[in-house]
Amino acid sequence: AVLEGRPQDLVGRRVVISAGGTREFLDPVRFLGNRSSGRQGFALAEAAVARGAQVTVIAANVSLPSPAGVDVVPVVSTEELRQQMLRAAVDADAVVMAAAPADFRPAEFVDAKIKKTPDGVAPQIHLVENPDILVELVAARTSKSPVIVGFAAETGDATATVIEHARAKLARKGCDLLVVNDVSEGKVFGRDDTEAVVLGADGSVVEVPPGPKRVLAHTVWDSVVQRMD
Ligand code: CTP
Ligand code: CA
Repeated sequence: AVLEGRPQDLVGRRVVISAGGTREFLDPVRFLGNRSSGRQGFALAEAAVARGAQVTVIAANVSLPSPAGVDVVPVVSTEELRQQMLRAAVDADAVVMAAAPADFRPAEFVDAKIKKTPDGVAPQIHLVENPDILVELVAARTSKSPVIVGFAAETGDATATVIEHARAKLARKGCDLLVVNDVSEGKVFGRDDTEAVVLGADGSVVEVPPGPKRVLAHTVWDSVVQRMD
């Protein structure tokens, strides 16, 4: 295996990464989804393997080749992702929520395909909020292990900057690290390159210059390793 000359600082560690975007089906043929490709999650998996970790990826609708040496568990919905993450996190040393779970799902699933009606009246879709997996992972943790990492795609707005929104989110979620992507101007999604800031619950700030998702992945593992006991 090519180890890229990386430090073998994850040997004997088990890490769990979520990747991709969940889908919430309305009927047998239609779903609500999002633009997450799974590239960042898979890059994190490859980087962790290169550093010697045992790696599980819970992959929501990712159409990329599975990285070598990684146990990939496919899921579709947020509820499936939730169940697999909570199960896999039990004896993990680090958990990274790089996936984009759909925030809402249709209140009901219709067994038969929804048909157009002759009167041209569009159906109303009622949505309910999905559980917050990251918050549940933090709540389920008994001690300081596993180290828990969230991701956030943010845009600045009239009320706050990207970093201000991110700080508030980190506090709300209770995780150890939050990797923040500025997604103004169509950056990041489905691209090979990314740029980010890694915020720590301890107040730390690591800026990652624009570059491949692999480089950001290694920066994330650097921050995780520092927080492992
Ligand atoms: N996340 C999660 N479960 C959800 C939604 C989000 O675990 N139901 C995780 C994501 O995987 C990510 C982090 O929470 O690691 C932040 O996701 P984000 O969508 O930025 O946060 P939300 O709380 O959904 O806030 P927003 O309203 O900005 O979408
Ligand atoms: Ca969200």
